[in-house]
Amino acid sequence: MTNLTPSPLPLWKHRPRRKRAPPLLFGTRGPGSLYRRLKSLGLLATRDRAAALAFLFADYPDPFPLAERIELIARFVAATNAIRCYHTQAELFVVADALLRMGRRPGLTVVEAGVAKAASSAKLSLVVSRLGGTLHLFDSFRGIPHNGEKLTRLDGSPVEFFKGAFTGRVPTVTQNLQRFGCPRCCVLHKGLFEETLPAFEPGAGRFIDLALLDVDLLSSTRTCLTHLFPKLRLGGAIFTQDGHIREVVELLGSARFWIDEVGVVSPPRIEGLGKRKLLKIVRES
Ligand SMILES: C[S@@+](CC[C@H](N)C(=O)[O-])C[C@H]1O[C@@H](n2cnc3c(N)ncnc32)[C@H](O)[C@@H]1O
Repeated sequence: MTNLTPSPLPLWKHRPRRKRAPPLLFGTRGPGSLYRRLKSLGLLATRDRAAALAFLFADYPDPFPLAERIELIARFVAATNAIRCYHTQAELFVVADALLRMGRRPGLTVVEAGVAKAASSAKLSLVVSRLGGTLHLFDSFRGIPHNGEKLTRLDGSPVEFFKGAFTGRVPTVTQNLQRFGCPRCCVLHKGLFEETLPAFEPGAGRFIDLALLDVDLLSSTRTCLTHLFPKLRLGGAIFTQDGHIREVVELLGSARFWIDEVGVVSPPRIEGLGKRKLLKIVRES
Protein backbone atom coordinates (compact mmCIF):
# COMPACT_ATOMS: atom_id res chain seq x y z
CA MET A 1 0.00 0.00 0.00
CA THR A 2 1.41 3.43 -0.88
CA ASN A 3 1.45 6.10 1.81
CA LEU A 4 0.03 9.26 0.23
CA THR A 5 0.84 11.56 3.18
CA PRO A 6 3.87 13.68 2.21
CA SER A 7 6.79 13.17 4.63
CA PRO A 8 7.66 16.26 6.68
CA LEU A 9 11.31 15.14 6.60
CA PRO A 10 13.18 17.34 4.12
CA LEU A 11 14.56 15.92 0.88
CA TRP A 12 18.30 15.60 0.45
CA LYS A 13 20.51 15.72 -2.62
CA HIS A 14 24.28 15.35 -2.38
CA ARG A 15 26.12 18.12 -4.22
CA PRO A 16 29.78 17.31 -4.90
CA ARG A 17 32.13 20.02 -3.62
CA ARG A 18 33.36 22.36 -6.31
CA LYS A 19 36.19 24.81 -5.98
CA ARG A 20 34.37 28.12 -5.79
CA ALA A 21 35.74 31.49 -6.72
CA PRO A 22 35.10 34.28 -4.19
CA PRO A 23 31.96 36.24 -5.12
CA LEU A 24 32.70 39.36 -7.16
CA LEU A 25 30.26 41.67 -5.42
CA PHE A 26 30.26 40.67 -1.77
CA GLY A 27 33.85 39.98 -0.68
CA THR A 28 33.77 36.66 1.18
CA ARG A 29 31.22 33.85 1.52
CA GLY A 30 31.99 32.97 5.15
CA PRO A 31 30.04 33.50 8.37
CA GLY A 32 29.11 37.16 8.88
CA SER A 33 29.46 38.08 5.17
CA LEU A 34 26.80 39.91 3.19
CA TYR A 35 26.85 37.03 0.70
CA ARG A 36 25.94 34.59 3.45
CA ARG A 37 23.13 36.77 4.78
CA LEU A 38 21.55 37.12 1.35
CA LYS A 39 22.06 33.42 0.63
CA SER A 40 20.36 32.30 3.85
CA LEU A 41 17.34 34.51 3.11
CA GLY A 42 17.23 33.04 -0.40
CA LEU A 43 17.31 29.47 0.98
CA LEU A 44 14.60 30.31 3.51
CA ALA A 45 12.38 31.51 0.67
CA THR A 46 13.06 28.43 -1.49
CA ARG A 47 14.60 25.18 -0.18
CA ASP A 48 13.44 25.66 3.43
CA ARG A 49 10.15 27.44 2.76
CA ALA A 50 7.78 24.48 3.22
CA ALA A 51 9.25 23.61 6.63
CA ALA A 52 9.21 27.27 7.72
CA LEU A 53 5.55 27.68 6.72
CA ALA A 54 4.60 24.41 8.44
CA PHE A 55 6.26 25.71 11.62
CA LEU A 56 4.58 29.15 11.35
CA PHE A 57 1.06 27.73 11.11
CA ALA A 58 1.30 24.53 13.19
CA ASP A 59 -1.02 23.87 16.13
CA TYR A 60 0.96 23.49 19.35
CA PRO A 61 -0.38 22.59 22.80
CA ASP A 62 1.14 25.75 24.35
CA PRO A 63 0.36 29.28 23.12
CA PHE A 64 2.93 30.43 20.56
CA PRO A 65 1.84 33.71 18.89
CA LEU A 66 2.75 34.26 15.25
CA ALA A 67 4.96 37.28 16.06
CA GLU A 68 7.05 35.10 18.39
CA ARG A 69 7.33 32.37 15.76
CA ILE A 70 8.60 34.94 13.27
CA GLU A 71 11.09 36.16 15.88
CA LEU A 72 12.30 32.57 16.41
CA ILE A 73 12.85 32.16 12.66
CA ALA A 74 14.79 35.44 12.64
CA ARG A 75 16.99 34.12 15.46
CA PHE A 76 17.61 30.87 13.56
CA VAL A 77 18.65 32.92 10.54
CA ALA A 78 20.93 35.14 12.68
CA ALA A 79 22.71 32.01 14.01
CA THR A 80 23.11 30.61 10.50
CA ASN A 81 24.54 33.90 9.28
CA ALA A 82 27.17 34.11 12.00
CA ILE A 83 28.20 30.51 12.76
CA ARG A 84 29.52 27.83 10.43
CA CYS A 85 26.71 25.28 10.44
CA TYR A 86 26.24 21.77 9.12
CA HIS A 87 22.47 21.48 8.78
CA THR A 88 19.70 23.13 6.82
CA GLN A 89 17.16 25.45 8.37
CA ALA A 90 14.42 22.98 7.31
CA GLU A 91 16.03 20.17 9.33
CA LEU A 92 16.01 22.29 12.47
CA PHE A 93 12.40 23.42 11.87
CA VAL A 94 11.32 19.78 11.70
CA VAL A 95 13.09 18.99 14.99
CA ALA A 96 11.76 22.17 16.64
CA ASP A 97 8.26 21.29 15.45
CA ALA A 98 8.46 17.79 17.01
CA LEU A 99 9.58 19.31 20.30
CA LEU A 100 6.90 22.00 20.33
CA ARG A 101 4.24 19.34 19.67
CA MET A 102 5.37 17.57 22.86
CA GLY A 103 4.67 20.79 24.75
CA ARG A 104 5.77 21.81 28.23
CA ARG A 105 6.26 18.87 30.57
CA PRO A 106 8.04 18.62 33.92
CA GLY A 107 11.72 17.77 33.53
CA LEU A 108 11.69 18.01 29.71
CA THR A 109 15.04 16.53 28.66
CA VAL A 110 16.58 17.02 25.24
CA VAL A 111 19.93 15.68 24.04
CA GLU A 112 22.09 16.79 21.15
CA ALA A 113 25.07 14.65 20.17
CA GLY A 114 27.36 16.39 17.69
CA VAL A 115 27.62 20.09 18.45
CA ALA A 116 30.49 21.40 16.27
CA LYS A 117 30.37 25.20 16.70
CA ALA A 118 26.91 25.14 18.31
CA ALA A 119 24.82 26.53 15.44
CA SER A 120 22.20 23.77 15.80
CA SER A 121 22.59 23.78 19.61
CA ALA A 122 21.89 27.54 19.82
CA LYS A 123 18.69 27.11 17.80
CA LEU A 124 17.57 24.06 19.75
CA SER A 125 18.26 25.84 23.04
CA LEU A 126 15.81 28.61 22.09
CA VAL A 127 13.03 26.04 21.72
CA VAL A 128 14.01 24.00 24.79
CA SER A 129 14.13 27.12 27.01
CA ARG A 130 10.70 28.17 25.75
CA LEU A 131 9.38 24.80 26.98
CA GLY A 132 11.22 25.06 30.31
CA GLY A 133 13.48 22.06 29.62
CA THR A 134 17.17 21.18 29.72
CA LEU A 135 19.39 20.62 26.69
CA HIS A 136 22.34 18.25 27.18
CA LEU A 137 25.10 18.81 24.62
CA PHE A 138 27.57 15.99 23.95
CA ASP A 139 30.73 16.40 21.92
CA SER A 140 34.47 15.86 22.10
CA PHE A 141 34.74 19.63 21.47
CA ARG A 142 37.88 18.56 19.59
CA GLY A 143 36.12 17.54 16.36
CA ILE A 144 35.78 14.10 14.80
CA PRO A 145 37.86 11.49 16.67
CA HIS A 146 40.51 9.29 15.07
CA ASN A 147 38.79 6.62 12.95
CA GLY A 148 39.39 4.40 9.96
CA GLU A 149 35.87 4.53 8.53
CA LYS A 150 35.43 4.60 4.77
CA LEU A 151 31.76 5.31 4.22
CA THR A 152 29.46 5.65 1.23
CA ARG A 153 26.63 8.09 0.64
CA LEU A 154 23.29 6.80 -0.63
CA ASP A 155 24.17 8.06 -4.13
CA GLY A 156 27.29 5.83 -4.11
CA SER A 157 29.89 8.56 -3.57
CA PRO A 158 32.59 7.81 -0.98
CA VAL A 159 32.96 9.89 2.17
CA GLU A 160 35.48 9.99 5.02
CA PHE A 161 35.43 12.15 8.12
CA PHE A 162 38.91 13.10 9.22
CA LYS A 163 40.18 13.56 12.75
CA GLY A 164 39.60 17.11 13.96
CA ALA A 165 36.92 18.00 11.36
CA PHE A 166 34.08 20.26 12.64
CA THR A 167 36.06 21.29 15.72
CA GLY A 168 34.24 23.68 18.03
CA ARG A 169 36.12 24.32 21.27
CA VAL A 170 34.25 24.93 24.52
CA PRO A 171 34.95 28.74 24.59
CA THR A 172 33.61 29.14 21.01
CA VAL A 173 30.58 26.98 21.75
CA THR A 174 29.83 28.91 24.96
CA GLN A 175 30.17 32.24 23.18
CA ASN A 176 27.88 31.15 20.33
CA LEU A 177 25.27 29.87 22.80
CA GLN A 178 25.44 33.21 24.62
CA ARG A 179 25.08 35.28 21.45
CA PHE A 180 22.51 33.22 19.56
CA GLY A 181 20.86 30.79 21.98
CA CYS A 182 19.94 30.30 25.58
CA PRO A 183 22.98 29.03 27.56
CA ARG A 184 21.00 28.84 30.83
CA CYS A 185 19.19 25.69 29.75
CA CYS A 186 22.31 23.95 28.37
CA VAL A 187 24.65 21.43 30.01
CA LEU A 188 27.90 20.59 28.19
CA HIS A 189 29.26 17.02 28.33
CA LYS A 190 32.82 17.08 27.02
CA GLY A 191 34.55 13.91 25.82
CA LEU A 192 34.12 11.01 23.47
CA PHE A 193 30.56 9.64 23.36
CA GLU A 194 32.02 6.29 24.41
CA GLU A 195 33.07 7.93 27.69
CA THR A 196 30.31 10.44 28.41
CA LEU A 197 27.11 8.67 27.30
CA PRO A 198 27.26 5.51 29.45
CA ALA A 199 27.35 7.66 32.60
CA PHE A 200 24.54 9.98 31.49
CA GLU A 201 21.35 9.85 33.56
CA PRO A 202 18.50 12.21 32.58
CA GLY A 203 17.60 12.55 36.30
CA ALA A 204 15.69 10.58 38.91
CA GLY A 205 12.67 8.94 37.29
CA ARG A 206 13.23 10.90 34.09
CA PHE A 207 13.65 9.92 30.49
CA ILE A 208 14.91 11.63 27.38
CA ASP A 209 12.08 13.27 25.44
CA LEU A 210 13.93 13.99 22.22
CA ALA A 211 17.47 13.62 20.90
CA LEU A 212 19.20 14.98 17.81
CA LEU A 213 22.25 13.15 16.48
CA ASP A 214 24.64 14.58 13.92
CA VAL A 215 27.76 12.52 14.45
CA ASP A 216 28.92 11.47 10.96
CA LEU A 217 30.64 8.22 11.95
CA LEU A 218 28.99 4.80 11.97
CA SER A 219 30.71 3.96 15.28
CA SER A 220 29.44 7.20 16.84
CA THR A 221 25.88 6.54 15.66
CA ARG A 222 26.09 3.05 17.14
CA THR A 223 27.34 4.37 20.51
CA CYS A 224 24.71 7.12 20.66
CA LEU A 225 21.78 4.82 19.88
CA THR A 226 22.96 2.07 22.19
CA HIS A 227 23.10 4.46 25.14
CA LEU A 228 20.32 6.92 24.33
CA PHE A 229 17.49 4.81 22.92
CA PRO A 230 16.95 2.78 26.13
CA LYS A 231 16.61 6.11 28.01
CA LEU A 232 14.05 7.53 25.57
CA ARG A 233 10.50 7.77 26.90
CA LEU A 234 7.57 6.12 25.13
CA GLY A 235 6.40 8.53 22.44
CA GLY A 236 9.83 10.21 22.39
CA ALA A 237 11.93 10.50 19.24
CA ILE A 238 15.55 10.43 18.16
CA PHE A 239 16.39 12.34 14.98
CA THR A 240 19.58 11.59 13.12
CA GLN A 241 21.04 13.76 10.39
CA ASP A 242 23.21 10.93 9.10
CA GLY A 243 20.55 9.07 7.10
CA HIS A 244 22.40 9.81 3.84
CA ILE A 245 25.20 7.41 4.84
CA ARG A 246 24.61 3.90 3.54
CA GLU A 247 26.34 2.14 6.45
CA VAL A 248 24.18 4.08 8.94
CA VAL A 249 21.04 3.08 7.00
CA GLU A 250 22.16 -0.58 7.12
CA LEU A 251 22.77 -0.35 10.86
CA LEU A 252 19.37 1.23 11.52
CA GLY A 253 17.67 -1.32 9.29
CA SER A 254 19.23 -4.25 11.16
CA ALA A 255 16.85 -6.00 13.57
CA ARG A 256 19.90 -7.69 15.16
CA PHE A 257 21.38 -4.29 16.07
CA TRP A 258 18.20 -3.17 17.82
CA ILE A 259 17.54 -6.44 19.62
CA ASP A 260 21.09 -7.60 20.50
CA GLU A 261 22.90 -4.28 21.00
CA VAL A 262 20.24 -1.75 21.98
CA GLY A 263 18.25 -4.34 23.90
CA VAL A 264 14.72 -3.70 22.64
CA VAL A 265 12.17 -6.40 21.93
CA SER A 266 11.48 -5.25 18.38
CA PRO A 267 13.04 -2.58 16.10
CA PRO A 268 11.48 0.90 16.34
CA ARG A 269 9.60 2.70 13.56
CA ILE A 270 12.00 4.81 11.49
CA GLU A 271 10.63 7.53 9.21
CA GLY A 272 12.61 8.26 6.05
CA LEU A 273 15.05 5.32 6.28
CA GLY A 274 16.97 4.93 3.02
CA LYS A 275 15.21 7.97 1.53
CA ARG A 276 16.03 11.02 3.66
CA LYS A 277 19.07 12.52 5.36
CA LEU A 278 17.11 13.51 8.46
CA LEU A 279 15.53 10.40 9.97
CA LYS A 280 13.06 10.13 12.82
CA ILE A 281 13.23 7.09 15.11
CA VAL A 282 10.13 6.81 17.23
CA ARG A 283 9.87 4.84 20.48
CA GLU A 284 6.44 3.27 20.47
CA SER A 285 6.92 0.33 22.82
C1 LIG B 1 28.78 17.46 11.72
S1 LIG B 1 29.34 17.91 13.30
C2 LIG B 1 27.89 18.48 14.13
C3 LIG B 1 27.28 19.67 13.43
C4 LIG B 1 26.25 20.44 14.22
N1 LIG B 1 25.17 19.59 14.68
C5 LIG B 1 25.67 21.52 13.32
O1 LIG B 1 24.63 21.26 12.69
O2 LIG B 1 26.23 22.62 13.22
C6 LIG B 1 29.71 16.37 14.05
C7 LIG B 1 30.19 16.47 15.48
O3 LIG B 1 30.20 15.17 16.07
C8 LIG B 1 31.28 15.11 17.00
N2 LIG B 1 31.63 13.68 17.18
C9 LIG B 1 31.56 12.68 16.26
N3 LIG B 1 31.91 11.51 16.82
C10 LIG B 1 32.17 11.76 18.14
C11 LIG B 1 32.54 10.94 19.25
N4 LIG B 1 32.71 9.61 19.13
N5 LIG B 1 32.68 11.52 20.46
C12 LIG B 1 32.50 12.86 20.61
N6 LIG B 1 32.16 13.70 19.59
C13 LIG B 1 32.00 13.16 18.37
C14 LIG B 1 32.38 15.95 16.37
O4 LIG B 1 33.23 16.48 17.36
C15 LIG B 1 31.59 17.05 15.66
O5 LIG B 1 31.51 18.22 16.43
